[in-house]
Amino acid sequence: MVVLGSVNVDLVMTVPRLPSPGETVVGGRFARHAGGKGANQAVAAARLGAHVVFVGAVGDDEEGRRCRHELVAEGIEVSPLATVAAPTGVAAILVDEAGENLIAVASGANDLLDATAVDVAFAALPDGPAVVLASLEVPLAAVERAAQVAQQRGWRLVLNPAPARPLPPTLLEACEVIVPNAGEAEALGGLEALMAAGAGAVVVTLGAGGASLHRPGMETVRRPAPAVEVIDTTGAGDAFNGTLAWALASGWPIEAGLEAAVAAGGLSTRGSGARARLATRGELEELLADRVSRVDGG
Ligand code: RIB
Repeated sequence: MVVLGSVNVDLVMTVPRLPSPGETVVGGRFARHAGGKGANQAVAAARLGAHVVFVGAVGDDEEGRRCRHELVAEGIEVSPLATVAAPTGVAAILVDEAGENLIAVASGANDLLDATAVDVAFAALPDGPAVVLASLEVPLAAVERAAQVAQQRGWRLVLNPAPARPLPPTLLEACEVIVPNAGEAEALGGLEALMAAGAGAVVVTLGAGGASLHRPGMETVRRPAPAVEVIDTTGAGDAFNGTLAWALASGWPIEAGLEAAVAAGGLSTRGSGARARLATRGELEELLADRVSRVDGG
């Protein structure tokens, strides 16, 4: 599968509570983690055993080299990861004791990923079935180009419209699945509008509420989140998206992919940082088996 998206260094401050504008909260702990929605999604899929090709951009700096190395260490193919003339992206993240977060991003190198870079990266990929997972911390022109090429080559597009921004109808039409959270779904005009625009399916992530699957003319499917002790919700959506795309690329029906994605999203919140506790295949299977047995057992 192909993941196209951002790479960031996450500068994370864990604080007793999130400050209000103009307020200073003391008592924080600092940590630096690898992040970026695209890179997190790629790692989530790779941990489950996917062969992942990652398309993105980092700076010609120490952070960029470290981010690249971390993706390679996860077994991800990074030859389409460009090194560009801007600093590697940085995210400043505050996490409170309940695991909720506030995030601000300086996109840096991510902003230089353009349609030409996507053309070059995709031209090097072999023909055959593939799932492309894209998110929106990179320029829309790059995502649109990826969608066009995916359509031409018969690849399935999963779009995580995060952070939300207005999307052209051609991009929505190209989506087999679009995966907003509740706020992003609203910002994009709501479920009905997304389906009317041509997205094959809309999956809405609901945090502690799990997720729901919506398809034109079909019953809504809902899946609750697993009960886990939440340390940090940063990247839970990325775990969800990477897992859903992995499941689809593995030939699973979307309902089973939804179940797996909800489970993986929950498991990812057990540790600090977006990637520390991303589920392995074994952990995911164990949780899914437990959920099935509880459902069977009434
Ligand atoms: O989704 C979580 C990610 O959003 C963080 O890793 C941060 O880099 C921001 O991109």
